[in-house]
Amino acid sequence: MPHTHRRDRWNLRIRGDVNVRRIPELPFGSFKLLPAVGKYALGGAAPKDYLVFGREQAPSSAYIAKAARLTGGRPCECVTEHLIARLGSLLPLRVIQARLVRLRRTRSGRSEVRFLSRDFLRHPADRLVHGVELMAQWLDVSKDEVVAAFSRREELQLYRCDYVLDALRCAAEFDEYPRLARAFGRMLGYDALIGANDRHPMNWGVIRDVTMHAPLRFAPVFDTARGLFWQHPDDHLRSVEERGDVEQHVEAYAEGSHALIGRPGDDDSSKLNHFDLVEGILLSRPEHLTDGMLEVVDRFSPVEAEQLLRREFSCILTPRRLRFIVRLLHYRHGRLRRLIDGR
Ligand SMILES: Nc1ncnc2c1ncn2[C@@H]1O[C@H](COP(=O)(O)OP(=O)(O)O)[C@@H](O)[C@H]1O
Ligand SMILES: [Mg+2]
Repeated sequence: MPHTHRRDRWNLRIRGDVNVRRIPELPFGSFKLLPAVGKYALGGAAPKDYLVFGREQAPSSAYIAKAARLTGGRPCECVTEHLIARLGSLLPLRVIQARLVRLRRTRSGRSEVRFLSRDFLRHPADRLVHGVELMAQWLDVSKDEVVAAFSRREELQLYRCDYVLDALRCAAEFDEYPRLARAFGRMLGYDALIGANDRHPMNWGVIRDVTMHAPLRFAPVFDTARGLFWQHPDDHLRSVEERGDVEQHVEAYAEGSHALIGRPGDDDSSKLNHFDLVEGILLSRPEHLTDGMLEVVDRFSPVEAEQLLRREFSCILTPRRLRFIVRLLHYRHGRLRRLIDGR
């Protein structure tokens, strides 16, 4: 019987909340890990390596291979980041190219789950300018001065939509600005659909070609890992279901997802959620940004998203977790549609 079959599969193969056996394994010797230091240094707090296929001197492809950090190494963290990136692939915006794998690092040891994102700095002249550096350049101060001046709680005063647009305008040359502003708006639309909680100024940026041969461009959206119940173990979701609280839980979770970008023209730096931010954008309608944001939200189809999740994740995540994620996406999309349609 299919039901028993599925239960057995979960009981036997689950590690945490994830059926790790269904995550493809990269065999020992098929890749090389370069520690993320020196030439390959990467920021961020999650443990990560630089992974290459092919020869190291001229790798055929290179990825940032990230392990789980905050959930005691639970693979669900990596799976959720992958799932969010896959949803991004349905939308008209550039997100990192993602893979979910298990790495077999020794011949006999246990493999580990990693989230891979393809290195988007493919050209040697490409540099990622993080949001914090962009703002520092605009203010004509150092990055450290910006960090010192704005604590995490005060950041919304600086990372306000309109100020970010000013910084993009200041960094742009010739006709680059409209594309940059639109891409920034697309990222905000995506974040609003997902409820991305961690879009701090090291988690977005622009790519500059230091030889000035290529135009400044908005970086593909990366590090969208905090959303869609990433931090809730399945046990927790089960108890919510058993209490009959699913609807309230989904709503409270959605309304409690904070945006880390402030509303245009709004000095209030208290926490706001993505719906407050979208409402603020719709009131002042900053040029290009609004178009980008609406383009992404308009394109999103909860049905299509559900199909993708069922196709790609029903073997890896529990049916319960997928149900919660789908409900949340429906809620978020419905709430955004009502704001946009003025209902
Ligand atoms: N696909 C990528 N290509 C190039 N650089 C990347 C990529 N993914 C991440 N980075 C760089 O690595 C840093 C850390 O990665 P991130 O995904 O933000 O990890 P963490 O979860 O630890 O913050 C980013 O701020 C960015 O500079
Ligand atoms: Mg990060």
